[in-house]
Amino acid sequence: MAILDKHAILEKSPTLLLTASLLVVTIGGLVEIAPLFWLENTIEDVEGVRPYSPLELAGRDIYIREGCYVCHSQMIRPMRDEVERYGHYSLAAESKYDHPFQWGSKRTGPDLARVGGRYSDAWHLDHLIDPQSVVPESVMPKYSFLLNATLDGDDIGDLMSVHRFVGVPYTDAQIEAAYADFTAQGDPDSDYDGLIERYPGAVVANFDGQSALTEMDALIAYLQILGTMVDFSTFTPDASR
Ligand code: HEC
Repeated sequence: MAILDKHAILEKSPTLLLTASLLVVTIGGLVEIAPLFWLENTIEDVEGVRPYSPLELAGRDIYIREGCYVCHSQMIRPMRDEVERYGHYSLAAESKYDHPFQWGSKRTGPDLARVGGRYSDAWHLDHLIDPQSVVPESVMPKYSFLLNATLDGDDIGDLMSVHRFVGVPYTDAQIEAAYADFTAQGDPDSDYDGLIERYPGAVVANFDGQSALTEMDALIAYLQILGTMVDFSTFTPDASR
């Protein structure tokens, strides 16, 4: 045990101990961080993940403005209890077009990463107007005022350009059609073929039942796409291929 006894030299000299621990931490840090610079991409591409449609993107802004992330996470961890409750664990690719990401850090309410398609639009409408009307013990605030906030969509193209600037691959065609797609998604009587072609899986509906597009429409459009872009019946992670 002679070599272990030498440890006493380190422990008795603060300068030596500090230098040695710094060295150890540096090596550890390099081993963890350096490979990231040589990997071409740390996010595995996954089929189906697409940028948000204009209306979904507007709804996402409302989600952020209202601080929904304060009570809701959007990140299902790969643990059995979470996967059984919420569905397949979240993939990095599923939030690659989120700027900023909405993983959150607190769950006063349930995780919302896969809430899309779980409830009807009408359920979301009732729930957002008055959460206690559907879940009596809920502590979620009422968001009925979103019904009165109409959206004109004048700046939706600009919003998409900003997202393109930070790396979301919106095409020129998508930005050109921004306003048309924005209004089409909230009106099931419109000609929304182009919208669906540009944004597969987008839910087209008059979400709040009013003729004008409101923040409520946008928020529900956003909630209904969450976690539905990847088809998990065919998905296999890279590592297990
Ligand atoms: C003060 C905390 C709080 C805030 C803020 C909050 N929620 Fe909730 N939310 C809850 C709680 C608690 C529940 C569970 C009870 C219920 O369904 O109402 C919930 C449930 C939900 C559900 C149903 C989830 C499920 O799987 O059953 C949705 C959808 C939802 N919230 C959306 C939102 C949106 C959108 C916002 C922002 C506009 C928001 N919440 C803001 C606390 C909150």
